[in-house]
Amino acid sequence: MKTTIFKDERTLARTLAVQIAAALGPRPTSILGLPTGRTPIRLYRELGTLHAHAQADFSQATTFNLDEFLGIPPEHPGSYRSFMQEHLFSKVNLQPERINFLSGVAPDPDAECRRYEAAIEAAGGIDLQLLGIGTNGHIGFNEPARELAGPTHRVTLKASTRRANAALFGGDAEQVPREALSMGMATILHAKRIVLIATGKSKARCIARLVNGPITPKLPASFLQVHRDVELMLDAAAAEALAVRA
Ligand code: PGA
Repeated sequence: MKTTIFKDERTLARTLAVQIAAALGPRPTSILGLPTGRTPIRLYRELGTLHAHAQADFSQATTFNLDEFLGIPPEHPGSYRSFMQEHLFSKVNLQPERINFLSGVAPDPDAECRRYEAAIEAAGGIDLQLLGIGTNGHIGFNEPARELAGPTHRVTLKASTRRANAALFGGDAEQVPREALSMGMATILHAKRIVLIATGKSKARCIARLVNGPITPKLPASFLQVHRDVELMLDAAAAEALAVRA
């Protein structure tokens, strides 16, 4: 795995945004896999700025988001769809029909997961999958467990994950849905290229385990070790435990 360490979060976000915009130049129809969370907010802001300066064109790009809460509609202020609308979709020129999302209110959630897998395949697969990482090593909503699911699937959220998402629900973790739909480990690992971004000291330990530890479902992100084209983009704080070991 390639690891790139940036002096701060802003430099990381800016560099990655410029790379994504540059890649869209020769390949305007790229398929992007997108995460939510605090970490990508700066990246999305930088992409919005590049677009405002006519330096990033998303007009032919397609996106697939990683996950969505079950039981709330897309227009709910706590939905990941609303998060993306606020932080990215309203700031760039993606065509609405090329924005793909799991529906939290699909009548048959399992059928919805199958529909999503088929849509990714029909689009030709994900070219660039962007990922954040939870402090427990989760990616998407693939939480540490004895077994991990391959395809897009329905998940029960851990209390810690519901607490981490409380801000989207007025600060009340009890309001965070108990279930979600998420791309699975195979969905993620089938992407042609993966870039995981992590910033801040709270991520230092899971990043060190991801880079130096064994592949284990106890740290879902450790499966990224098997992928040929993964880059970890870290700020100095998230890379801290790597430096100590080196
Ligand atoms: P964060 O979440 O960016 O808010 O830290 C990352 C994640 O849980 O995937």
